[in-house]
Amino acid sequence: MKKKLIAGNWKMNGSLAANEALVRALQAGLATHTASCDVAVCVPAPYLAQAQGLLAAGGIALGAQDVSAFEVGAYTGEASASMLKEFGVRYCLVGHSERRLYHGETDVLVATKAQRALAAGITPIVCIGETLAEREAGRTEEVVKRQLAAVIAANGHCVSEIVVAYEPVWAIGTGKTASPEQAQQVHAVLRAQLHAASAHADRIQILYGGSMNAANANQLLAQADIDGGLIGGAALKSADFLTIIAAAQ
Ligand code: PGA
Repeated sequence: MKKKLIAGNWKMNGSLAANEALVRALQAGLATHTASCDVAVCVPAPYLAQAQGLLAAGGIALGAQDVSAFEVGAYTGEASASMLKEFGVRYCLVGHSERRLYHGETDVLVATKAQRALAAGITPIVCIGETLAEREAGRTEEVVKRQLAAVIAANGHCVSEIVVAYEPVWAIGTGKTASPEQAQQVHAVLRAQLHAASAHADRIQILYGGSMNAANANQLLAQADIDGGLIGGAALKSADFLTIIAAAQ
C-alpha cells in the first residue's frame, strides 16, 4: 500500500527560536511513536539551512515553499531548484493558491516550476484547487482538471514523480474544511486524470489541504483517494501536527 504523506506548510511564520522548538517537539513526539507515513515540513527560504541542520537526524523531510521557474541568472529574489537541493530539500510546494493569487502565478508557470524541481531531484507538491465562486458556479472539476492538465502537459511521463495537493481555496485558513465526501469526489477525478496520463499514476500521492486539523484528519485520511495532507495552521502546533501524523498511520 502507498504510504501517506503529511506535509506541514509553515507559510511565512517562524523564527530561529520558534522553529527549533517546533522541530524538537515533533522529533520528541516521533521518537516515541515512529511514523509509518512520510512526514515533511515546508519552511520559509531563510530557514532552510537551520531546518536542514535540525532535521539531519532523519524522520522528517525538508520542504521549500516555492522555486524559481528559471535555472540561473538575473532573477532577483528567486531561488533555483539546484540551490534548494544544496540544502537537502526533498519536497517543494509549487502553485500554492497564495502564490497564484498574490503573485499572479499561472498554470503554465506552475507547470514549469514543477519541471525545474523534478530536474533537480526535488519532488514538487503541486497545489491545485477552486475558489468559492468557482465551486458555486459548478466549475470545480473544470478548474482542477485544467490546473493539473498544465502540469501533465509540461512533464509528460515524469508526472508520476509528483505529489498533488488538492486545496480548495475557500477552505484554506478559513476553518471551513471540505467534507470528506467533497474532497474524495475531487480526488477521484484527479486520480482518473493522472491514470489517463501515466501508467504509474498509482504511486502518486494526492494530498488534501484546507483547514485539516487534529479533529478532522481521521475522516479525511480514511477516504480511498486521500493519500495525506498539506497542513497550514495546524502544522505550527506540535501536538496537533503529531495527532494528524498519527491519524495517517
Ligand atoms: P490551512 O492551510 O491548513 O491553514 O488551511 C493549508 C495550506 O494553505 O496549505
